[in-house]
Amino acid sequence: MEIIIQRNPAAVSAVAARLFRHQLAERAASVFGLATGSTPLGLYRELIAMQADFSQATTFNLDEYAGLGPDHPQSYAHFMRVNLFDHLTRPPARTHIPDGTGADPRSHCAEYEAAIHAAGGIDLQLLGLGTNGHIGFNEPSSSLASRTRLKTLTPKTIEDNARFFGSAADVPRHVITMGIGTILEARHCLVLAFGEAKAQAVAAMAEGPITASCPASVLQMHPHCTLLVDEAAAEALQRVDYYRWVYDNKPAWQLK
Ligand code: GLP
Repeated sequence: MEIIIQRNPAAVSAVAARLFRHQLAERAASVFGLATGSTPLGLYRELIAMQADFSQATTFNLDEYAGLGPDHPQSYAHFMRVNLFDHLTRPPARTHIPDGTGADPRSHCAEYEAAIHAAGGIDLQLLGLGTNGHIGFNEPSSSLASRTRLKTLTPKTIEDNARFFGSAADVPRHVITMGIGTILEARHCLVLAFGEAKAQAVAAMAEGPITASCPASVLQMHPHCTLLVDEAAAEALQRVDYYRWVYDNKPAWQLK
């Protein structure tokens, strides 16, 4: 895992935007895995500011709340429109977000997996990190081989996300999320984390044991994972000096 520490969230978002731009330059018809929450907002603002050309790209979002239709202001479908898609002059040719309202979630999840496969798999998967180490909505104890499915949120995640809904009681209990096995198939995983609230999860993910108790830790097994954090989120890492050394000495051929 490559660990990149930047001064603040703005600097992290700028580096992440460069990785997106590079991916688009490599292949205009790239397939992106996209994330929601507060973490990717700075990156999405950068992509809008640079008017990145997604017109040949395909996107798949990680997750969606069960029971919220695409017009619900807290649905992730709505989030993606207001925070990214509606502001791009060249939006993605094809966007996919799990449908949290279907009568048959199991079939829908299988179809979502099939659509990712049919698109040729995900080239660059963006991920935030839950304070409990979740990725997507794969809560601690999720199977590290899991596929897209319906999940029940932990009280901790409901509490963390209550700020978007006004109260914890309004946060749906269930979600549809790509599985950990699904995420691991992306060719490049990019995890962003900001702030001291994420410091323990970042350390557990990068330096702790690989365990379903911290789902993000499985990314230690991924052949191409970039963890991009600000100073505060890096606070609990043991080998900070080494990670900085590696980044400062990154050979030119590896800068992509
Ligand atoms: C949410 C999302 C995740 C997100 C994480 C962190 O519940 N399902 O995809 O990465 O929790 O959220 P935030 O970025 O707001 O801290």
